[in-house]
Amino acid sequence: MASPGLQLQFSEAEMKLLQNLVYQECGMFFDSRRAHFLQDRLQRRLRECQLDSFYSYYRLLISNEGKAELAKLLENLTVNETSFFRNKAQLDLFHKHILDQMLRQKQEKREFSLRLWSAGCSTGQEPYTMAMLVADALSYHCLRNPSGHESFLPKPLVPPPWKVEILASDISYSALRAAQEGLYSESQMASVDYTYRLRHFDKVGERYAVKKALKELVHFDFHNLKTEYLPQRNDVIFCRNVMMYFDEAEQRRLIEKFSRCLNPGGYLLVGHAETLLGLTDKFTMVYRDTGTAYQQIEVPS
Ligand SMILES: C[S@@+](CC[C@H](N)C(=O)[O-])C[C@H]1O[C@@H](n2cnc3c(N)ncnc32)[C@H](O)[C@@H]1O
Repeated sequence: MASPGLQLQFSEAEMKLLQNLVYQECGMFFDSRRAHFLQDRLQRRLRECQLDSFYSYYRLLISNEGKAELAKLLENLTVNETSFFRNKAQLDLFHKHILDQMLRQKQEKREFSLRLWSAGCSTGQEPYTMAMLVADALSYHCLRNPSGHESFLPKPLVPPPWKVEILASDISYSALRAAQEGLYSESQMASVDYTYRLRHFDKVGERYAVKKALKELVHFDFHNLKTEYLPQRNDVIFCRNVMMYFDEAEQRRLIEKFSRCLNPGGYLLVGHAETLLGLTDKFTMVYRDTGTAYQQIEVPS
């Protein structure tokens, strides 16, 4: 059993084994620049499991009984940094152009549903931001295109006959629990302006709670982006600040999978430090000011 203060040293070969296992399991790639972080988390997990050698821990990870520990290790390796209304220029593009055009096209086809996915949603700020923007875009769209259902009071966030589904997924169970709870501190709310606070949050003690109506638009679930079977038929996928932790081969595989998870002509939005350029010919870049997104190129059938 490991003594509490003991700092174990790991060999290069041991670290390589762990690096490969993590990569196989979730796509996260720990090169030499991030080796220190991997070592630090490994130390913590060994202490927590009261094990005193790398191999006893590794054997646990690859055993059937070790599935829960493997999930914990991966959770300890994720970076969950996020915020509401992150990357304003990109969200403007999404809100004012992509959604606007998508709603008009769907209305023409009398297809009144929208399906969005926040892949790597962390503690929920991203999918709740998407929900606020979709609710705004829909109410503006319905104001300009009355459908005859307008007599409802108070106005629902999603006016009939429209239906909105926002799937929000992550590999971290603790992040998903926080997202589902939907309680945010004053500092986490810094980028939420007062009109959105008034409309979509209640003050509960020192924190802000996401209102039920907004919460109901978002469905949280566990999905590992490394797996083949991912949620299908999405109009828009947000996968921001996730691919940056993958190597190029894994990024290419993920983009290929996303292209299959989108409805024809759907959009993929990635983080500002990420790009699809040079990685795929299935998407074309669209931009307004400094905001960028990628639209899937429709292949004629
Ligand atoms: C830096 S956060 C980004 C959160 C949000 N998308 C944003 O841009 O603000 C990255 C998230 O990706 C998740 N993640 C990393 N690898 C993943 C994988 N293989 N499958 C699903 N989620 C993953 C992490 O758990 C983390 O919550």
